[in-house]
Amino acid sequence: MATGLDDVVAAETALSDVDGLAGRLIIRGHSLDELASSTSAEEILGMLFANAFDQGPTPALLGAARVTVFKRFEHHLKSLADTPVFDAVRACVALLPDDDALETALLLVAAPAVLVPALLRQRDGRPAIAPDPTLGHAADILRMLRGQAAAPAETAGLDTYLVTVADHGLNASTFAARVVASTQAGLTSAVLAAYGALKGPLHGGAPGPVLDMIDAVGTPQSAEAVLGAMLARGERLMGFGHRIYRVRDPRADALKGALAKLPPSPRMDLALAVEAAALRLLKQKKPDRPLETNVEFFTALLLDSLGFPRDAFTAVFAMGRTGGWIAHAREQAISGRLIRPKSVYVGPRPREAA
Ligand code: CMC
Repeated sequence: MATGLDDVVAAETALSDVDGLAGRLIIRGHSLDELASSTSAEEILGMLFANAFDQGPTPALLGAARVTVFKRFEHHLKSLADTPVFDAVRACVALLPDDDALETALLLVAAPAVLVPALLRQRDGRPAIAPDPTLGHAADILRMLRGQAAAPAETAGLDTYLVTVADHGLNASTFAARVVASTQAGLTSAVLAAYGALKGPLHGGAPGPVLDMIDAVGTPQSAEAVLGAMLARGERLMGFGHRIYRVRDPRADALKGALAKLPPSPRMDLALAVEAAALRLLKQKKPDRPLETNVEFFTALLLDSLGFPRDAFTAVFAMGRTGGWIAHAREQAISGRLIRPKSVYVGPRPREAA
């Protein structure tokens, strides 16, 4: 029995293909290597939603959705001041309409994009900034976060991030969304299920702990000793290993490329020393199991460079992945097939009557 459903095919999809042996991700017919540095958040959304709705998600509609979300939740922000960012975004998402309309889909995409900057500013005692619907999605997110326009390279870096994480086969959160959508529940219900699955450190919760790990190492010279001690304690090195990729995680390369176009971060030399030591130690520990750098390692460094604090990283992941969740939820709902696997019962059985 495949306890983690390894290698079990549970859906047909025209959205993305994760080829673990070739280290390749294809989204709607295009390789990520080709998409990552040349596609905007709006364009990838258009590609993912092509078969999901009668109408396309134009930049103007997405901009209008950001404005609607801000107006809808502006006055809720205070009551969420003590709630962790990810949980606060999820709480607001739960209040959105729950149907299959494009308008709802765009509100779901806009929600983390607007709420993460607003919640972070409120936490720092600064007023939330309303969206500018005329800006591109990535540029507006960084402006709402900082209160001023970001440099073009930074906007491009966030676009690369949002495209890179937009869809990734039947990962845990996408599968959760498809299970809920298969019951013909609305998009908001499906997306809320995905938020729950995304939160764990074995999925979308890894990048915060990646920075903690890099900080714990402290200096390049200590990398080998600190990481070796972690492995000896049976801990996992965050940002390494993947269920499917066996040669490289192409998303890690895409994000490393985006980072290289930004001014060098003070953490970069240390991070590269940590990566090199981790790969060496993991190879020693598991010579037969390729454990390579995954997307979360460079996510942590890129989002840190763009000014997002580490406790917001998982909510920023939701900014990018919501489009994928919705496209999968629509694909599943349109197929009309309820997802209902079987389990093997290993508990006691009633005694047979004598
Ligand atoms: N550090 C140390 N050992 C590891 C690691 C790691 N990062 N990853 C796997 N291993 C070991 C693991 O302990 C196991 O050893 P053993 O057979 O002795 O028990 C062996 O390698 C196989 O691990 P597994 O858990 O069966 O492999 P998996 O395919 O279920 O794991 C994973 C995938 C991502 C959960 C795992 O590699 C991991 O925990 N990585 C650290 C957390 C992380 O970076 N998460 C983000 C994943 S990428 C985001 C996404 O696409 O969702």
